[in-house]
Formats: sequence, structure tokens, C-alpha cells
Amino acid sequence: MAEYDKKELIKAAIEVRKNAYAPYSGFYVGAALLAESGKVYTGANVENCSFPVGTCAERSAFAAAISSGERKFTAVCIVGEKNNNPLLGADYCMPCGMCRQFMTEFCDKDFEIISAKNEEDYKVSRLGDLMPGAFMLFAGF
Ligand code: THU
Repeated sequence: MAEYDKKELIKAAIEVRKNAYAPYSGFYVGAALLAESGKVYTGANVENCSFPVGTCAERSAFAAAISSGERKFTAVCIVGEKNNNPLLGADYCMPCGMCRQFMTEFCDKDFEIISAKNEEDYKVSRLGDLMPGAFMLFAGF
């Protein structure tokens, strides 16, 4: 795995979290995704009054990256917590099951997921550990 700047990703996730639309849960999430190209794509959660229609921050970031032609990824940073204010601090936020499945489509087992409270306080997980035995139509994961 190539070295990359975790703090830069955390900063980007904190910044985009300010744009999260989460009036129903009060759980504001930002995600910053590093593609193998070196570019960073960001996304926030976008809720809806019809609750299942809402989407997570990670999938927003992936959708932006994939729509720009990216297909390979190194790491994603997630920043979120339920405090009804995207400007307040975060707890370690882990990706939901749907996002884990979504990521297995594009990422290897060593893809890193950084759950960050802030630039100094974060933990790193690998997709292969969070999603063992993932369903795949094609071999690869
Ligand atoms: N959410 C994310 O955006 N990412 C996660 O990793 C966990 C959950 C969002 C979905 C919903 O808008 C809110 O957080 C509460 O579940």
C-alpha cells in the first residue's frame, strides 16, 4: 500500500461534514475518499423524509469518484457523530453494512477505513476485516 497523508483525508472529511443534510437523525457525517490517482473525493450524508431514500457520506463520496472515472481506491476517512451539529466533535464512526458491501465492489481487502474524531485521534480498519466473506459475483475481493 502506498503511503498517503491521513491528516489531509481527515481534514477533508471534517470540512465536507459541514454540508451534511441530516435533519432527521441529527447524525452528521463527512467522508473523504482517496483514489489511486491521488485525487480526493468528498461526500456527506443526504437524508430524506422518506427515510430509506437517504444515502451515507461514504457512498456519496464513492459516487462522486466513480462518476469522475475513478475505479481504484486506497482509503476513505469517515467523520461523524450524533450531536445535531456538524461543527461539533465526532466519535469513531464505522461504515454501515450497506456501505461495506458497496466498497467491496471497488476496493481490495487492504483498503483502509479511517474512523476519525479529529486529526490526532483516529483508528484505522481494513475492509477485509470489516467485511469477511463478502458476496461477490466475480472473484477478486
Ligand atoms: N451514516 C453515514 O453517512 N455513514 C456511516 O458510516 C454511518 C451512517 C448516516 C446515514 C444517516 O443519514 C445517518 O448517518 C444516521 O444513520
